[in-house]
Amino acid sequence: MTRDKPIGVFDSGMGGLTVLSALRKALPAESYVYLGDTARLPYGTKSPGTVTRYGLRAAHALIEQNVKLLVVACNTASAVALPALKAAVSPIPVLGVVEPGAEAAVKATRSGHVAVIATEGTVRGNAYPRALKTLAPQIRVTQQACPLFVALAEEGWSEGEVARAAAHRYLEPLFSGRADDPDTLILGCTHFPLLHGVIQEVCSPAVAIVDSAATTAAQAARLVSGAEASQKGRATIRFLVTDAPERFARLGSLFLGESVAAADVALIDLPPLFHEGGGTA
Ligand code: DGL
Repeated sequence: MTRDKPIGVFDSGMGGLTVLSALRKALPAESYVYLGDTARLPYGTKSPGTVTRYGLRAAHALIEQNVKLLVVACNTASAVALPALKAAVSPIPVLGVVEPGAEAAVKATRSGHVAVIATEGTVRGNAYPRALKTLAPQIRVTQQACPLFVALAEEGWSEGEVARAAAHRYLEPLFSGRADDPDTLILGCTHFPLLHGVIQEVCSPAVAIVDSAATTAAQAARLVSGAEASQKGRATIRFLVTDAPERFARLGSLFLGESVAAADVALIDLPPLFHEGGGTA
């Protein structure tokens, strides 16, 4: 793999910036193109067919940017569209975030009972239970959809009483002090690491909270050759969004952990692909 081509990263919105942040730490000398499909967020409440269609359009736009690796930094798209995305961009490698998240949880759990919180689409598709049971067949998995967390994170309300109330409502049924409560919680949505603080408050401090970011970045580092040269400097990041670039620049830094310059955020359109026929949604 060559160093000169960028790594493409995509999510429905800003959540994938938490994965980009981990990628930057693992591969600091790589250049990145991040695509947030902000016009179509949320993906998590949409049908698998719609998410696949949107995912294919985003992948197509990143291929046009000449990326050497595509990181699907959206659990919902990873859960329902990964095979279609891999087929569409082959031979360019595609990394999803579900398997890395499952890997992190299997390493962390002692009791073998893992909870997954995610969007409705990810929960409905059962991608995490499948990935977890492939790695550890005896594992017990409890899932809970937390769609409101996406809106809270995008709004910048990841702390405070509203976020805390939502966390109690979603998580108390999972962590009620029983001896067989899960001992590990997967943040199965790339938006959720922003709410880590309030989530940890509701779970007992003994619960290990894991997400896909670091494990996905480690897998990316294995795929990208010449990692030893990656200490030499920091290369560029460009951001492409399908709506509200100024909002993305303003709030994106909360997710990325470094500032997002408005000049680096470009507005693009993701038109239907040729085989989709008409329609603009
Ligand atoms: N960040 C997306 C994910 O990881 C969810 C946000 C959305 O619903 O679009 O699933």
